[in-house]
Amino acid sequence: MLTQNQLKLEAARKALAFIPDDCIVGVGSGSTVNLFIEELATIKGRLKGAVASSQASADRLKAHHIPVYDLNAVDGVPVYIDGADEINHYLHMIKGGGGALTREKILGTASDQFICIADESKYVDVLGSFPLPVEVVPMARSFVARELVKLGGHPELRDGFITDNGNIILDVHGMKISKPVEMEGILNQIAGVVTNGLFARRRADVLLLARQNGIEEIR
Ligand code: A5P
Repeated sequence: MLTQNQLKLEAARKALAFIPDDCIVGVGSGSTVNLFIEELATIKGRLKGAVASSQASADRLKAHHIPVYDLNAVDGVPVYIDGADEINHYLHMIKGGGGALTREKILGTASDQFICIADESKYVDVLGSFPLPVEVVPMARSFVARELVKLGGHPELRDGFITDNGNIILDVHGMKISKPVEMEGILNQIAGVVTNGLFARRRADVLLLARQNGIEEIR
């Protein structure tokens, strides 16, 4: 019986096969990605460099002497590798458990291919058991929270947490999200919302799902 950490490592290892030679690879955030960065270091000789979705990931990449570029300094990102907090059968995701959702969404959307690496506990029928992170400009906190309540959610301030962009996170509990594409758009229309953690308009292209009996590749 593999542990959750071993499953994450299996998915992380498998992702190496999706990285073309001499390219800029997009690197997400979180514990699965941390394992991926360790694996990436073993093939760093065939990389041009990386673009990172968080300061934490950038620091880890630099510690392995992998060159880290600003997204504005590269022509394109052929492949982006990231984890998810939940992912459904259409490869729509909830992300942002680590609070890096805005940069993750920018990078994921700017990349040609989005590869999600996850252990089987993340694969769900309906998104929303995991509280949906919403990044909010601080002065809009109370207003946005009231709007989220009107939509049926129970927002909770992520205490003591400030994003890499200087904003706060509201974690929204109790949302069973049956229409992720629509809901992503509705939440983005609330003034003061920077990004929400639904990644449905730009879903993953490939899910590498680590199960006890091996990696399932889902498209
Ligand atoms: C970070 O902001 C998140 O979007 C992560 O990708 C997500 O929380 C998955 O993290 P783990 O790999 O730690 O489960």
